[in-house]
Amino acid sequence: MTPEEAALRIATLRAEVARHDELYYRQARPELTDFAYDGLKAELARLECAFPSADATGGPSPTSRVGDDRAEGFARVRHRQAMTTLDNTYDEAELREFHARLVRALSAEDLAYTIEPKVDGVAISLTYEEGRLSRAVTRGDGEEGDDVTANVRTIRSLPSTLADLAPPAVIEVRGEIYLREEEFRRINQLQEEAGEAPYANPRNLAAGTLKQLDPRIVASRRLEIVLYGIGHCEPPVATSQTKLHDRLRAWGLPVLDPFWSVRGPEAVWTAIRELDARRRTLPFGTDGAVVKLDAFAQQRHPRVGFRGMAADGQAEAARKLSPRWACAFKFPPDRAETRIREITIQVGRTGVLTPVAELEPVLLAGTTVRRATLHNADEIARKDVRPGDTVLVEKAGEIIPAVVAVVPGRRAPGAEPYVFPRACPVCRTAAARAEGEVAWRCPNPDCPEQVRRRLEHFASKAGVDIDGLGEEIVGQLIDRGLVRRLPDLFRLRLEDLLPLRKSGEIWAANLIAGIDARREVELWRVINGLGIPQVGAAAAKELARTFRSLGALLDAPVADLCRVEGFGDKTAHAVRTWCEQLGNRALVTDLLAAGLSPRAPAAVAGGLAGKTFVLTGTLPTLAREEAAALIEAAGGRVSGSVSRKTHYVVAGEDAGSKLAKARDLGIPVLDEAGLRALLAGG
Ligand code: IVH
Repeated sequence: MTPEEAALRIATLRAEVARHDELYYRQARPELTDFAYDGLKAELARLECAFPSADATGGPSPTSRVGDDRAEGFARVRHRQAMTTLDNTYDEAELREFHARLVRALSAEDLAYTIEPKVDGVAISLTYEEGRLSRAVTRGDGEEGDDVTANVRTIRSLPSTLADLAPPAVIEVRGEIYLREEEFRRINQLQEEAGEAPYANPRNLAAGTLKQLDPRIVASRRLEIVLYGIGHCEPPVATSQTKLHDRLRAWGLPVLDPFWSVRGPEAVWTAIRELDARRRTLPFGTDGAVVKLDAFAQQRHPRVGFRGMAADGQAEAARKLSPRWACAFKFPPDRAETRIREITIQVGRTGVLTPVAELEPVLLAGTTVRRATLHNADEIARKDVRPGDTVLVEKAGEIIPAVVAVVPGRRAPGAEPYVFPRACPVCRTAAARAEGEVAWRCPNPDCPEQVRRRLEHFASKAGVDIDGLGEEIVGQLIDRGLVRRLPDLFRLRLEDLLPLRKSGEIWAANLIAGIDARREVELWRVINGLGIPQVGAAAAKELARTFRSLGALLDAPVADLCRVEGFGDKTAHAVRTWCEQLGNRALVTDLLAAGLSPRAPAAVAGGLAGKTFVLTGTLPTLAREEAAALIEAAGGRVSGSVSRKTHYVVAGEDAGSKLAKARDLGIPVLDEAGLRALLAGG
């Protein structure tokens, strides 16, 4: 590989990994199995290592930061001690290398380890002050997360006080929030009965639940928690992971079971195999084992510590990434062999044509799999998948199964390479592929299948949220030609619906009332419901806040779109392109004419509206949360990282890399007095 090729591949992989991080951490709707994701990330890390000069091509690489789960609507809280992630491997040899490195670093042969299940849930940090639960915060970007205390307090198995007569003054206890399989199924059943899309897997549902703004909804879903670690702790409570485990349990906190304390690599391996044999019987999803060096003194040894710091303990990068004293060994996902009966094409709401393998049913990870995604035309060509082929299908957790590879030597003679269709299978319009995109699309916005999916999305909880309008009804409305375009929905009359159901007067009246009730609806819901490429709920909210009307959004120049919080060039251009298309402009006009009346968000009063601040270091009198609250009350926004879009950096004592970056970018830096002057209108 030439350096140019490497640079290109690195750029592609970074964009891919960043996209999947966004899908996993923020949107809780991953497209890849963890295994496939880990593969991308490992390839990226290898290339970055082999071609370090290619490193200068952009912002920080996703290999040098943790995913970010922070969402709208929660107070941001700084962790007293950062939350890191774990290095992982699927390879026994790498696990042995992990041990060998520790032996070298500590000059000790006989090392004690713990082995724990790796819980497939959502990371959480609980703060207990004088033994009382005071805060629960998500991992966020590792340094600051979302305050989800009210939601976590609904967890019945979590005590709000520690069973200890002399508890530590302050302790951050770390663990994972998850949902049991039965509970996942129960909630999904309700979702489906309500005509809502089911959640992909228990982890996504747990993540989505934890980020609910209404604690009553959270309380109606039975979240569980398990605790396995500590962050900041004053005074210390244990000298090893084993003792910590015992202590957490003695406090009445739910802890991991099974849990092994062993010596030496052979015993580690035996425990991992035992865990593998038992993992499907555990209450939480487990995709691996976490091996930790047991003694805290050894963990803290200057030659162990954290990746992201130099070996001498001096900060090399400003933050800790992952501990060298722990390693996650992940079990490979479940795979099975089966035959592809045929390849069909699914049309998405943006017209994307997704090839799907229709399989001979096969049992995989406890469920019967009949269909698996083939992703796109390039992937089919790359793997040379042909109808009739015997293939390996993979499934991790509840994620959509995927075809991984063709089993060699089993192809029927005469099997022809698959030719991706040139036309939409539903409306027969010639398929098109935009430059630089992998997906082929049906370019006909009135394609009935697209309209059906768009309408489903428009009416869904994330969109305009119309009561009673689920997949089934949408299908009937489309099939009967009652709705050909979105605006038709708002022109439906009672008599149109009556033929759909026997004695359906009440049902029809309710549906009409449900639609009427959502004519006046928050602007962001309409924007999200329109299905603009690259725009999800979070982006829709930012667009609504910035432009305040559909008209202003349609006419927004790219330069203004680029300034929207969280928008890069690509998103800005995608939105602009969508807004320029005459069909889309007509759609918006027609929706308004049909009586849709979007409501702009309440204007934020205050002199700092539209200004983004980053806080760093310790201010003389204001705590970070207080400073953030003052800024937000004045209409400003507080962000965790410095970029060109930052308007001010407020720096206190011990400000580090963020201050340096602000100076680099020429962003004005304020001290506390400067901030106060600005707040006072100075
Ligand atoms: S130890 C600094 N132990 O997996 C040590 N983490 O992929 C990090 N996780 O961020 C945490 N089970 O959210 C640890 N038994 C376990 C775990 C566990 C699940 C999560 C945790 C971590 C992520 C890393």
